[in-house]
Amino acid sequence: MKEENILRYETVALDDEKSALVIVDQTKLPGEVEILRLTCQRDIWEAIYLLKVRGAPAIGVAAAIGVYLAAKAVKADGYDDFCARFKEAKDYLASARPTAVNLSWALDRMERVVLENKGRNADELKTLLRAEAVAVKEEDIWVCKRIGEHGLTLVKDGDGILTHCNAGQLATAKYGTALAPIHLGKERGYTFKVFADETRPLLQGARLSAFELVSDGVDTTVICDNMASQVMKNGWVQAVFVGCDRVAANGDSCNKIGTSGVAVLAKYYGIPFYVCAPTSTIDMTVEKGEDIPIEERPAHEVTEMWYEKRMAPEGVKVYNPAFDFADNELITAIVTEYGIARPPYSESLREIFRRKAEAKRRQA
Ligand code: MRU
Repeated sequence: MKEENILRYETVALDDEKSALVIVDQTKLPGEVEILRLTCQRDIWEAIYLLKVRGAPAIGVAAAIGVYLAAKAVKADGYDDFCARFKEAKDYLASARPTAVNLSWALDRMERVVLENKGRNADELKTLLRAEAVAVKEEDIWVCKRIGEHGLTLVKDGDGILTHCNAGQLATAKYGTALAPIHLGKERGYTFKVFADETRPLLQGARLSAFELVSDGVDTTVICDNMASQVMKNGWVQAVFVGCDRVAANGDSCNKIGTSGVAVLAKYYGIPFYVCAPTSTIDMTVEKGEDIPIEERPAHEVTEMWYEKRMAPEGVKVYNPAFDFADNELITAIVTEYGIARPPYSESLREIFRRKAEAKRRQA
């Protein structure tokens, strides 16, 4: 019999013996917990594109494991050939989704292992790449735990918390980002009341966040996206916590479509709006939100998917951006593993990276 509690499953894992990326198929949740073992690159690319594995950190971990598996299968004619084949595999996986920077961040990190070990033979490179993929995953667990600790300092027992999309365990290697303070608070006896926006069109809030939170015994209410204003007006929300796919250097934060609307509402009602972002999600090379590439997805996700039958007329035009960004002025704070950044973000985010560099130096 399958385990009822979704939190007992690993979102993303490596099965090295079978040379497989192991994921929970998130398109089947909450109806069915199906574990997929993916061994070919095409299937891994498709799993990312189709959101079988999704959420910025989880995509990064899946890509790190995926590119390790690609490298493992390479029979190279020397170092240069290995590099070329690795780059091909990396570029292929990177093309699956454009917005979450964790995907290219993890793949670049894997590539650095190859580039910094010039002259090593293929077997040695494969061993190093395996260790790096495992490190990407292990670090994500630590990062999420830290975000949970920092996030928990921003709320108090009994608070109502609204969240959008799913930035929980299912979107990371463990614990989640925006949901980490809630899971951690639950563990420590806090009783939060969570409102999960259903998150049209792919319903990550209703299908995934609600499932995950209910599994953990958290008091959870699903609302349609257009109910958030009413819930806030009722005085039921003391804080908004959302995840993030890419933070620009000025603090503009790109997340699931609808996030910017929630941020505007929170500002109007005077509710703090917190973005939870691992440093792997902060892209200091991008100046502002407008410079972040926004994925556009197929029309059928809006007109048909999840409905019993098509709910919009044939031939109608559809606009389906998967993400938007909240302007930095709408964001009360950005919660990272190295502390809480507050406006002005162009300074506070640099300080977060200074702390990270210092921590790495101490570790070395
Ligand atoms: O399209 P998705 O489901 O991958 O979008 C996910 C989100 O927008 C999450 O909020 C974000 O990736 C943060 S996950 C910790």
